[in-house]
Amino acid sequence: MQDYAYAVELLCAGKLVAFPTETVYGLGADATNPEAVFRIFAIKNRPADHPLIVHLPSAEALDPWARSISPTACALAEAFWPGPLTLVLPRAPGVLDVVTGGQDTVAVRVPSHPVALELLRAYAQECGGHGRLCGIAAPSANRFGRISPTRAEHVREEFGETVPLVIDGGTCPVGIESTILDLSRGESFAPRLLRPGGVSPDRIETVLGARIERADLSLENKAPRVPGSLFAHYAPQTPLDTIPSPRLPRACEELTSAGKKIGVIVFSSIETDIRADAKIRLPGTPEAYAHELYDSLRALDASGCDAILAEAVPDDSRWAAIADRLLRASSR
Ligand code: TXA
Ligand code: MG
Repeated sequence: MQDYAYAVELLCAGKLVAFPTETVYGLGADATNPEAVFRIFAIKNRPADHPLIVHLPSAEALDPWARSISPTACALAEAFWPGPLTLVLPRAPGVLDVVTGGQDTVAVRVPSHPVALELLRAYAQECGGHGRLCGIAAPSANRFGRISPTRAEHVREEFGETVPLVIDGGTCPVGIESTILDLSRGESFAPRLLRPGGVSPDRIETVLGARIERADLSLENKAPRVPGSLFAHYAPQTPLDTIPSPRLPRACEELTSAGKKIGVIVFSSIETDIRADAKIRLPGTPEAYAHELYDSLRALDASGCDAILAEAVPDDSRWAAIADRLLRASSR
């Protein structure tokens, strides 16, 4: 039984509350309280131009946040909320600059984790219900650039007691962050994928019956046109390299022969002759792999390895979000 009343009390007092979502744990603050939101940036050590996602209890709570809500936004909210899809929309007057990084847009989502939803509902009730600007601004609950937390103890590892409340909702089922889709350019432009995540682009296109713009994320993010999409991100402290399957046994052999302690993440059936100090075998479907990825990276990081080698994942759109996270984790 969670103590939602206490969590709401903390949020109303401008304090931070970490809570589980279906993707990763979030570090939440009252999205209408500038000092509270500022506190998120301070404890994460996050640059001010990295805007935050506002979490809402339902699609009905969206009105006060966005200047216009297009038919496309409505269709996507209907299909995927609650769930791991974040929509970037033109922001309404009154939305804080500290939340949006001073941009003319705001990112919003309705998470599907029952604990997150219960917290958001309890908080909305305290704020006075529908029609009011009310929501919880929450980035992933990790220090800037590091691996997102998928269990409550990860949040404690990141922040110790500086976060007054971490609501424990167990392991996050999706395990990687939400998909971010930019709809702010209006109906005459195709929606633009800013971050692949828990909802695959194919599913979005099926709902819309139209293509979305899948920018070359690797190139785009090297020059961060979209605030917050810095290339190196989601990274363990141990250097990580992604290696195509056929080259993996040899790469491991070379490092271990050179006296390096290595950790390996594999998912295919290559395996048997791989020499490594720590080896993690992840499942062969993108959903099950995503669920375990960050926990595995944390475990290898903690194991004292000199290097982590991850087997490259298939070059297919169902694996796009995982390929993206491995690419960023390997950038330094
Ligand atoms: O799954 C998730 O999305 C998790 C959970 C807690 O909801 N949250 C999360 O937040 O990943 P964070 O802050 O770690 O990543 C949010 C991303 C950043 O890359 C940020 O730049 C982008 O969202 N973002 C936020 N507002 C934006 C906006 N107005 N325009 C473009 N990108 C935006
Ligand atoms: Mg994050």
